[in-house]
Amino acid sequence: MSASIFQRRQNKLKSELADRGLDGMLITNLTNVRYLSGFTGSAGTCLFTPRGQFFISDGRYREQSKEEVRGFTRYIDTGTHLRIAAENELIPGELKLGFEGDFVSVNQFQQMRELFPTVQWESTSRLVEEIAAVKDPAELEAIKTAVEITDRVFGEVLPRLKAGVTEKEAAIEFALRFRRYGDGEAYPPIVASGPNGALPHAVPTDRPFQKGDFVVIDAAAKYGGYHSDLTRTPVIGEASGKHREIYEIVQAAQQAACDAAKAGMSCKDLDSVTRDYITEHGYDKYYVHSTGHGLGLEIHTIPRLSQKSREVLKENYVVTIEPGIYLPGWGGVRIEDDVVIGKDGCEILNRTTKELMVLG
Ligand code: GLY
Ligand code: MN
Repeated sequence: MSASIFQRRQNKLKSELADRGLDGMLITNLTNVRYLSGFTGSAGTCLFTPRGQFFISDGRYREQSKEEVRGFTRYIDTGTHLRIAAENELIPGELKLGFEGDFVSVNQFQQMRELFPTVQWESTSRLVEEIAAVKDPAELEAIKTAVEITDRVFGEVLPRLKAGVTEKEAAIEFALRFRRYGDGEAYPPIVASGPNGALPHAVPTDRPFQKGDFVVIDAAAKYGGYHSDLTRTPVIGEASGKHREIYEIVQAAQQAACDAAKAGMSCKDLDSVTRDYITEHGYDKYYVHSTGHGLGLEIHTIPRLSQKSREVLKENYVVTIEPGIYLPGWGGVRIEDDVVIGKDGCEILNRTTKELMVLG
């Protein structure tokens, strides 16, 4: 990504800090460090002050950070990043600085107060996340590529699934291909057959698929650091009337939300679209999670599409739409797409069919 993208992000944060009367900010969450600076390593801190923008890491990342980090003066040393900041007098005088209250530990906070006794520290929440929720064109491209890889892999693996294949064997086929074509899995693949499908986040087991199993497959690729997220629920061998009934309810609820999603809509209202439909059909008790979540450098990020959410959809948010019905002892159905929110509607990125697939 070009230097100007990072500069735009940094400027957005600085204008947000100015609006809040803050002189700067300490960024310790690695995803946010990556978003603001371009650094992809496992240890880095960003510091915005009136004196400048500083990036702190250790010797392992001397060369990598030189290549990646945009718009920050780098300090590479051993010891905690806070101590490096103090030793180099990066935070002078009596400043009012923000920090990420959601991610700083009690011990780190104590160290902040000890090392910088004249700084007035102010806890903030989701400052960078809210900027990052609106995707820029390069991010949309990365997510679209991740989705394309995911669709390709579903196209390759689904035809191989039949009675006798185990959940673990199927999960490995997905994971292998995500690594071959992209950066790897966006999250450990979920392959949950028959009764195991009633657990929305089941871990793949040695259970072989049997005729009449629904198989919840929630598996997706990552590309350029960006996540996709896809769920389809094929049935093995043949579909009964009950399979079709449950599937059609979830499919219609999912489609209704895809049809309704657009900028300006509240996330709570979008959740109500799937929830009301499933409730009208008598299965509300078995719809045990929210409608979806934001996607980006993290698999789950803001906004949350739930009854508790107070967020409103904005143009170029990327969210999942993934209602499900889970019947204990019998199985589950979830159908999930990734969509880009637009002014008048949403763009569904996935191409894998949502019609009921009977495999094997
Ligand atoms: N794909 C996992 C989840 O959205 O929870
Ligand atoms: Mn999801």
